[in-house]
Amino acid sequence: MTVATSLSPASTTLPRREVVELTSSSIRDIANAGMGRTDIAAFWFGESDLPTPQFIAEAGMAAMARGETRYIHNLGLASLREAIAAYSSRLHGITLPASRIAVTSSGVSALMIAMQMVLSPGDRVVVVTPIWPNIAEMPRLLGAEVVRHPLVIENGRWRLDVEALIARLTPDVRMLVVNSPNNPTGWTIAREDQQFLLEHCRRHGIWMLSDEVYERLCFRPGESVAPSMLAVAEPEDRLMVINSFSKSWRMTGWRIGWLTMPEGLMADLPKVIEYNTSCVPGFVQRGAEAAVSDPRGEESIEELRDGLIASRTALIQGLHAIGGIEAPEADGAMYTFLRIAGRPESLATAKALVAEVGLGLAPGSAFGPEAEGWLRWCYAADERKIADGLERLRRFLG
Ligand SMILES: Cc1ncc(COP(=O)(O)O)c(C=O)c1O
Repeated sequence: MTVATSLSPASTTLPRREVVELTSSSIRDIANAGMGRTDIAAFWFGESDLPTPQFIAEAGMAAMARGETRYIHNLGLASLREAIAAYSSRLHGITLPASRIAVTSSGVSALMIAMQMVLSPGDRVVVVTPIWPNIAEMPRLLGAEVVRHPLVIENGRWRLDVEALIARLTPDVRMLVVNSPNNPTGWTIAREDQQFLLEHCRRHGIWMLSDEVYERLCFRPGESVAPSMLAVAEPEDRLMVINSFSKSWRMTGWRIGWLTMPEGLMADLPKVIEYNTSCVPGFVQRGAEAAVSDPRGEESIEELRDGLIASRTALIQGLHAIGGIEAPEADGAMYTFLRIAGRPESLATAKALVAEVGLGLAPGSAFGPEAEGWLRWCYAADERKIADGLERLRRFLG
């Protein structure tokens, strides 16, 4: 009785400070407002318009029909971990044991679990930005401090000033986060920069978290796979690599990804997975296993890449033809990050685009203050839809 009267109603129902202070994603703010409207050409989310390849869906459905609907190992099915290790080894010319792989309930969950493994309240995390908002908010949820290191625009391309980044990576930094190919800019790290950063982090005991979910979406001439940190690191380096089935195999709604960790983290990892999601549904894992081990998996990635290259070309050419739009060329991912002259406020512009012409783009400010004024256009759509979007933008600009 005494306790109940001494607490103010407001203080009893508020979440902790770190939660209140999280920034909500303004991509969602824009998209939620427009969802359900059929007159919108939406390019705000990072996903393909195409469904999951049929052979993957069938593998998942067959497993469900067989009754693979029970709890399974925290780290994932042994056969899937083996299949991912073989796939990753093949892709990057390395020998990766399955013992370093953990299957997670999405790339987002892989990111959160990786951070929970090594971050404590008060730790400092340096993040190369602009970046997908979730990545910069997660350390804050854990009470860590985020220091942003912005990419720069040089000669019409995004570039990492690696010397300036090194200067920020003082020994008191706990973790460096790099996402390459990058969401939203498409910037893709150079192999030499990976090496340089790794050596510096190694010297100072800094953890590296490398988000490589777009690694198969690399469009550099003669390079269809983006450079992976796994190819330059030693097994005992303080490196955690995030990957996902969402982008390469068009499985966004399946919610499955994976982590590649040093052996030193593996004994404790099952506990952290247990207290997050416990395990990924077995039938979902069977779909993923088909994706990485059936030869049709590579065929579907080729098909996706061909479509992306065509849409990307159509979009960039269309934007340049409109005029007054800056759209730097980028090597990877599935986004064009663009800036319209005389439109410095991205959220206001994104809202006006939806309201006036039904064009759904993500506001740059969602990816950090350094991206204010920019808009993200996901081009994982067919050329007809891209042409429709361009026409709407033309109308908007009068
Ligand atoms: C950079 C980056 N990392 C991770 C993810 C997470 O993907 P998912 O949770 O669908 O596996 C995304 C999704 O857009 C992303 O852009």
